[in-house]
Formats: sequence, C-alpha cells, structure tokens
Amino acid sequence: TEYASPHELAELMGVTAKDIIQKCFALGKFVTINQRLDKESIELIALEFGYEAEFISEVEATAVIAEEDAEEDLQTRPPVVTIMGHVDHGKTSLLDYIRNSNVVAGESGGITQHIGAYEVTVDGNRKITFLDTPGHEAFTAMRARGAQVTDIVILVVAADDSVMPQTIEAINHAKAAGVPIVVALNKIDKVEANPEKIKTQLSEAGVLVEEWGGEYQCQEISAKKGLGISELMGKVLTEAEMRELRGNYSAEVPASGIIVESELDKGKGVISTVLVQRGFLKVGDPFVAGNTLGKVRAIMDERGKRIPSAGPSQPVMVLGFEDLPQSGDVLTVMVTDREARDLAQKRQVIRREHDFRRSTRVKLDSIARQI
Ligand code: GTP
Ligand code: MG
Repeated sequence: TEYASPHELAELMGVTAKDIIQKCFALGKFVTINQRLDKESIELIALEFGYEAEFISEVEATAVIAEEDAEEDLQTRPPVVTIMGHVDHGKTSLLDYIRNSNVVAGESGGITQHIGAYEVTVDGNRKITFLDTPGHEAFTAMRARGAQVTDIVILVVAADDSVMPQTIEAINHAKAAGVPIVVALNKIDKVEANPEKIKTQLSEAGVLVEEWGGEYQCQEISAKKGLGISELMGKVLTEAEMRELRGNYSAEVPASGIIVESELDKGKGVISTVLVQRGFLKVGDPFVAGNTLGKVRAIMDERGKRIPSAGPSQPVMVLGFEDLPQSGDVLTVMVTDREARDLAQKRQVIRREHDFRRSTRVKLDSIARQI
C-alpha cells in the first residue's frame, strides 16, 4: 500500500518538500516529490520532524499528522469499556442496569435518545465510558479500520449456561487487540447457576481467573437483581488504574476522536456519536472525519443536554457534519474551515485515484482472463 507523497507530507507538517526528500535520502530512500511513500517511511519521517503519523484508514491511503502529546498535558482519563458475550447471556441487561442506576435523582426521563456510548459515574466521582456496540461487529469493524477505542472488555457469561462460541470469539477478539478482560458471571440469582463450572471452562479457553491464580478479575453478578454490580465497577476501575490510561487534556491541542456511529435525522441532519480521545472538542470547531467534513454546530451528552465542549473518553452526540461519516472514522479538528476543506479535498483526490487504480486493475484482470 502506498500513502502520502513528500509534497503532501510537507504541507501537513509545515516544512518544505525538499526537507522531506532529504530525510528520505538520509533513511536510504530515493524518492521524488510526488511519489507515494510506504507507511513505515511516513512514520519515520514524521518522527524526525517531531510528529506522530496517524493513518486514517488503509483505503483512503492518506495520513493526518498529529503532534505528539506533551507530558505535562497528559492526565488520567476514564476507561472506555465494551461489554461482550454470548447471545442471551445478559449484555443488554447489564448495560441497562448500570445506566438506570446512574440516572441522577430528579433528572426526569433519563436517556432520551439512543446513543452508541455513554458515561456513568461510580463512587461519586469516578467515570467509566461504556460503548453500546450491537454484538461484536462494531468492535471488529472499528478495529479493522485501525481505531482502537476499547480499553477494557467486560466478558459476560451466564452462570446457568456454559462458555459458548461467542464467548470464545469475544476472548479471541480482546486478546488479539491486547485489551484486558474482566469476567462477569451473570445470572447468579438462578438456582441452576454454577460459577465453578464456568470458571473451569474459562480456564480451558485461556482465561484463568484471579482466585485460581490467574490474571483475570472475575465477579459474580445478577444483572436482573443488581447484585455484584458495584463490585464489578470497582474491578473495572482497578484494571483501568493498572493500565495507567491517560489522555491529552490541553485546551490548546486540536481535538480528535472516533466516530462510534452516525445516523441521518430528517430535521437535524447527521447526528454522530463521537468518542473524544484527545483535547477538547468545542462548538464551532472545523473538522474532517473520514471522507467528510464539517463544523461542530452542537455537542450533546447522552441525555440530549447541550454542552459547550467534551474532553478525553467523553462520548457525545455531535451535529454539523456535511455527510454521514463511518464508524471507526477519525474526527480531527482543523485550525480553519479552509484547512478542513483542503484536507477533505485532498483525501477525495487520493481516494478517487485509488478507486481508479483498483477499477483499472479489475478491467485488466478480466481482459487477461478473456485472452
Ligand atoms: P443478545 O443481545 O440477544 O445477545 O442478549 P443479551 O446478552 O443482551 O441478553 P439480555 O440482557 O437480553 O438477557 C437475556 C435474558 O436473560 C433476558 O430474558 C433477561 O431478562 C435474562 N437475564 C439477564 N440477566 C439476568 C440475571 O442476572 N438473572 C436472571 N434470572 N435473568 C437474567
Ligand atoms: Mg442484547
């Protein structure tokens, strides 16, 4: 795969193309100004200039260059958690219980619209962000696009059932992504519940729980009765602490985040759930996101309340997109509208070029087959 050219990289980093080409020579690569570079070279060159290359997606074959985070801007951020597990084992029940028990007294209505992610407060002041991804698809789709959003997986296993195919799948996904797992043995209120059996099966699947000398935290719960939930949240927070999750909380850096999901509303236009990952996303910010762009018109929390800005690990609904972005797209704030439009245009050109090359290849292929 080929990526941005020295000319494009130079523009992104505000240096001359000559500087880039010279760096390439120093790295033993002889390139011309409009030649597309490979991923590794771009990463190395970006580092040489004090930037970190972030690849928006394999398909668009382009890169946004992000400045590296300054140590003093980094602070502890809330963990982003995905709940996974086999069909009917209680994922939705658990999410619902957590969400409902977190609705502040007096706040009528609670969650008004469906939002693909939301934040809860536990122990009075500690936050956890939950991604409400339907099944495993969203998780894998986002990962396939290179977006790492989940910090911790809660693996729900019904204690009255068994470790099932989707339990194993969830374990494999989490392990492949290097994401820690906290086990929730659900439906403990049922007389048929047999947590010891599940722990044995989990150990056979490579998940040895802590009480048996393993590294995986495990909590017996009943999502229906609300048993063991606060203990489970405590274990999630412990896991987060061990990982030392940090985010850039500087008000100066251009914010960026991940598109969790989007929909087209007749009245409001595109509504997108964005998980902010860096800096503060503010009303009025121009941005690019995947193949589209826009200017933040409104930011709302999961209760539909308008807020002026959102920081690291905060999930919000954002209005102001020109077009529907895709799940897993990176939203990057640009300094000016002009800059956003230029980058979006550049991406379109690269994408068209890519599509063209692909269709030519297909044509040549079919011609070759006919001969
Ligand atoms: P899918 O989204 O279809 O994969 O299922 P899910 O994992 O979201 O499971 P869901 O929360 O829909 O629960 C499935 C069934 O189990 C429902 O009938 C729940 O009421 C029931 N259930 C969930 N948690 C508990 C529990 O702790 N105890 C008991 N007794 N039943 C539970
Ligand atoms: Mg469900």
